[in-house]
Formats: sequence, C-alpha cells, structure tokens
Amino acid sequence: MRTHYCGQVTKSSLDSEVTVCGWVHRRRDHGGVIFIDLRDHTGLIQIVANPETEKLFKIAESCRNEFVLKVCGSIRGRPEGTINKDLPTGTIELVASDLTVLSRSLPPPVDQDDQAYSSEDTRLKYRYLDLRREKMQKNLRKRHKIVKFIRDFLDNQGFTDIETPILSKTTPEGARDYLVPSRTQPGNFFALPQSPQLMKQLLMISGFDRYYQIVKCFRDEDLRADRQPEFTQVDIETAFMDQEAITTLMERLIKELFQSVINIKLPDPFPVISYQDAIDQYGTDAPNTRFDMRLIDIKDLFLESAFKVFSDPAKNSDSRIVLMNLKQGSKLSRKEIDDYTSFVAKFGARGLAYIKVNDINDLNEGLQSPILKFLNDTEISAILGRASAETGDLIFFGAGTKKVVNDSMSQLRLKIARDLNLYEKDWAPLWVVDFPMFEKDADGNLTSSHHPFTRPNIENIEDLKKDPTKVLSHAYDMVLNGTEIGGGSLRIYDKETQKAVLEALGIDSKEADEKFGFLLQAMDYGCPPHGGIAFGLDRLVMIMLGLESIRETIAFPKTQTASDILTGAPSNASQEQLNELHLKLKTIPSE
Ligand code: AMO
Ligand code: AMP
Repeated sequence: MRTHYCGQVTKSSLDSEVTVCGWVHRRRDHGGVIFIDLRDHTGLIQIVANPETEKLFKIAESCRNEFVLKVCGSIRGRPEGTINKDLPTGTIELVASDLTVLSRSLPPPVDQDDQAYSSEDTRLKYRYLDLRREKMQKNLRKRHKIVKFIRDFLDNQGFTDIETPILSKTTPEGARDYLVPSRTQPGNFFALPQSPQLMKQLLMISGFDRYYQIVKCFRDEDLRADRQPEFTQVDIETAFMDQEAITTLMERLIKELFQSVINIKLPDPFPVISYQDAIDQYGTDAPNTRFDMRLIDIKDLFLESAFKVFSDPAKNSDSRIVLMNLKQGSKLSRKEIDDYTSFVAKFGARGLAYIKVNDINDLNEGLQSPILKFLNDTEISAILGRASAETGDLIFFGAGTKKVVNDSMSQLRLKIARDLNLYEKDWAPLWVVDFPMFEKDADGNLTSSHHPFTRPNIENIEDLKKDPTKVLSHAYDMVLNGTEIGGGSLRIYDKETQKAVLEALGIDSKEADEKFGFLLQAMDYGCPPHGGIAFGLDRLVMIMLGLESIRETIAFPKTQTASDILTGAPSNASQEQLNELHLKLKTIPSE
C-alpha cells in the first residue's frame, strides 16, 4: 500500500514518487495552499495540496485531525525559510498528486500533541487513541526491546521458556486470589496464579534445570502507582545453583540489559545490605540509596530522660527513636517544617521534633528547637554527636512504635530528597539479603516474609521450632532507586523442612496436604536443591524509562479501583451464566 513510512522519507527520495499512509496530525490552510502533517509511528511528513489540483485540494480541505490518508506524490526540498530543523523530515515535503481518505475520525478526545493533556480516565477510556501518542508508542516499543533482550540473554544461558497454567491453585504470595468458578465441578474454584512459584519448583524436580517465563500474575491487592492486579513477571528458576551463583547471574542480566537498551552502566558489583541494616538505616527494606541521608538510632540516650515523648518509647521494646540530619537544612522555613509535620502525620507520627543548628559552637544561642526546653545539656550534646552535626544542619526526630517511625521517617526521607533534589546519583541498585523467615501480622500470627517455600538459614529443623522469629532465610531482593524490582530465594527441597515451615505458619498437616500435597509428594521423588527469582517487568520498564506509573508501560492497564474503563470490566454476569456456574449472589447489585 505504501512505499515509505512517514518519518523515514529523506533527501535521497528528492524528485521521486512516494506513497505514504498515516493519520492527519495537523492541517493548516496557508492562503490557498493546504499543508497536512501526516503521522505514523515513525514520525511526521509534510504533505502539500495545491489549489491547481482542484479535486485533491477539495479532499484536503475536508480532512480533519486523525483522518487516515493514503497520499502519493513527489518529494521536493522545502523552500528556504520553511525548513523545520526539529523534524527529521524537516527539509523535504511531499507534493500530493493523489490523496485518498481511507477512514474518517470524529474529533479525538485524546490530544496527540501532549499539549492539552487529557485526564487519565479519558486516556484509559480511549486507550487506543492514547497509545497512538508518540510517548506511549515509545514506551511500548522500548518494553518490547527490554523483553527481547531478556529472552535472548536467558536463551544464551541455557534457560528454557515453559508455560504454566493460568487456571490453577492458590499460590501464597501474600495477596488475595482471583477466583474462577468451575462449571463442571459445582462449588469449586480455580485460583489465578499470584506467581508460577510452585509450578517452577515442580519443573526443577522434572529436571529442566533452567526455566524462565515472561508471565502474567494476578493479585487482588490494594493498588498503588507501582502495582497492578495483573502484572508481568520475568520468572526464573534454576537447579544446583547456590545463592551467590544465582544473584551473580541475575545481576549480570540487569547490568547488560541497562547497557544494551538504555546505554547505562550500573555499578559493579551491586552493593549488598542486610534486611536489618536496611530497616535500621532507611526504615524500609527497599531503600532508595541515590542519596545518603540515613536514620540514626538514639533510643539508648533517653531511658532516663525527662522528655516523655522520647523516654516512653525508649522504655518500650517495640519502639524506636531516630534522628535524621538534613545537611545544610537550617534554611528551611517554619512553614516548610510544618508541612513536613503534617506529612509524617499521614503515617501515624504524632509530631516531628527538630533542632536547627544555627551555630554548632554556641549550644545556648546557636540552636533553635521546640524541644530544647525538655532536654538537658548531656542529651543535647549526645544528639549532636550522634548526628555529626555541623553549623547549618537541620535534625529531625521520629519517636514511637517501630512501624510508625519506620513508615513516617522513610517516607519523609524520600519526600525531602524529592523536594530538595538531594540525589547524588541517577542509578542506585542494591541487593537486600538475610531477610527474616517470618513476620508477625497485626494479630500476632506468623506470616512468611517472602513465601513459605523459601529455604530457612538453619543448621537443623529444631532451630525453626525453638524460635521461628529469630530464623533468617535465603531470600534476596533486588532494589533499584527505592523500588523492589525483583525478589527470589533458595527453596526448601526436603519434605520435613517444608512441613515444619508450614506448621510454623499455623498450617496443620491436613491443610498442608489439601493445599500443597502435590508439592510435598513431589519432594519424595528426587528433588534437587533449587532457587530462583522473579522480576516485576512492568516496574523494571517504568524505572528504566523514568516513568511515573507502571500504567505507562502497559497497553491496557487497570485503574486504581482495579477496573478497565475501556471495556467496562468487571461487569455483571447474566442469571443464566450464574446458574451454569452454580453461583447465587448474596445481594443483587443495583443497575
Ligand atoms: P514477589 O512477590 O516478590 O516474588 O514478586 C516478584 C516481583 O514482582 C513484582 N510485583 C508486582 N509488580 C506489579 N504489580 C504487582 N501487584 C506486583 N507484585 C509483585 C515486584 C516483585 O519484586 N514467586 C516469587 C519469586 C521467587 O521467589 O522466585 C514472587 O512472586 O517487582
Ligand atoms: P508535644 O509535647 O506533643 O508538644 O511535642 C513536643 C515536640 O515534639 C513537638 O515539636 C512535636 O512535633 C514533637 N513530637 C511529638 N511527638 C513526637 C513523636 N512521636 N516523634 C517525633 N516528634 C514528636
């Protein structure tokens, strides 16, 4: 149908006949001559319709934005003064000799120029128009390049791509399952996989040795900018590789991917930090280390203090008191500090004490703070020492339960870095290791930090039974610029340990058999030591391309309320469908 893409016509076609197809990006009437910028995914070309070609001119006049055209004509150099240096095809134009409207368009609700920026709801409702935009075209084509690189890399390393079922059984990854009712077995449900975790472990038992899959996973959880209910994992599993070998290979994959696709050299090797150090120094297990400001513990200084805001948590084992020294932050205004105080309140903090160090050599007049009156000289000196305070610094304090202090101060750290642009580097990858095997939920019950198939780092099973909360695991997360882009572990490969872990989680052997009997049984038939990882592809693409949300990397994403406003999913089922599935609704939603 065409001889060239719009954006790829060059001077080498001067005076020759070409045919291009595309969408009307803009039409301009210039006193008798009509110019149309015609667009396809490669770029724009300027079409010229002259009044002498009367019939053609009339058609050009009728064209509106987003009409689809086929245009034949000859290429000529643009006259002096009309050259557009910003456009790759800016030195030439196509003088139309034939122009066909292949398809008409209503006025498009999504602006192609990014100038009158459309709301996200409109963009998602008319996603096919939104995806026409140059930016979205670039995002999805780059995503394709990233996927292709990963496939090629893994293929070269001897990995086999194997598909696993979508209609499957629950895989505990910490979220709610999406359930699919079975028609043929009344009252039974499939679960959509939260990950292919158990299937990939079975594939290791089957002897595939190195497996990968770029696969949809489904999690019914509260959405955020970096979460979707259905998302894509680069899922990987290996047999007979230890933690060092797996993480080294995976680090190589990410480094070579960055070098190849976005020409970025990541640090070599990636820094490694333990889970405990990450929590202590950053208040989170996914620290953003693009800048250095850290949390510093000061709980030990306030056991005897007269300042109750500090002495109460100092005596409580579930509490923390930290400071964070914002170098040269004393120029912040009262209003800015008040805004930060409101910010930490969102995470449950009852206040945000601070000390401005106007002159470190004058501890009477040189410090400015609402809490000085509650502190004695020894406490003040100890604080300044711990903070390595210098003139011009601003020290913030967080005191309270560990959860509130970690949540509020880690978020405050990120917010201040964004507000004041504290970043020292563009790319900060790191491994977080030595996770605890279990965490306690709000009701005091043990839950898995990763998943129940993670191998505990113990000498014998008794250690697990004695005090499970003390046990660390062979789990590792890859974090990039404060986002967890991948998580993995060595797995349990003997039945006894697996049963003991399930038991610690409160899953008795009956329930274990019901839920995971097939895995426990498979462990009886020659299970090799194995381990792997899964990367969140959407998150990886988001970070590599510097995007604000993973929705910008997905062709047809869901909204914050897990719905698809383009197709209207989820939607009602007819009574007939419900009957076939043996389902009865508790309440009939109003129409
Ligand atoms: P995990 O639960 O850590 O591990 O998931 C692996 C990676 O998937 C990404 N991710 C998500 N991305 C977008 N939206 C979501 N809702 C979402 N949830 C997770 C994250 C995360 O690091 N089976 C294990 C992996 C293993 O042990 O091999 C698993 O699923 O980037
Ligand atoms: P108050 O005694 O509540 O007026 O608090 C005195 C100072 O301590 C104020 O500057 C508060 O912002 C601060 N503050 C109160 N509670 C906390 C807390 N849990 N963590 C950090 N600072 C606090």
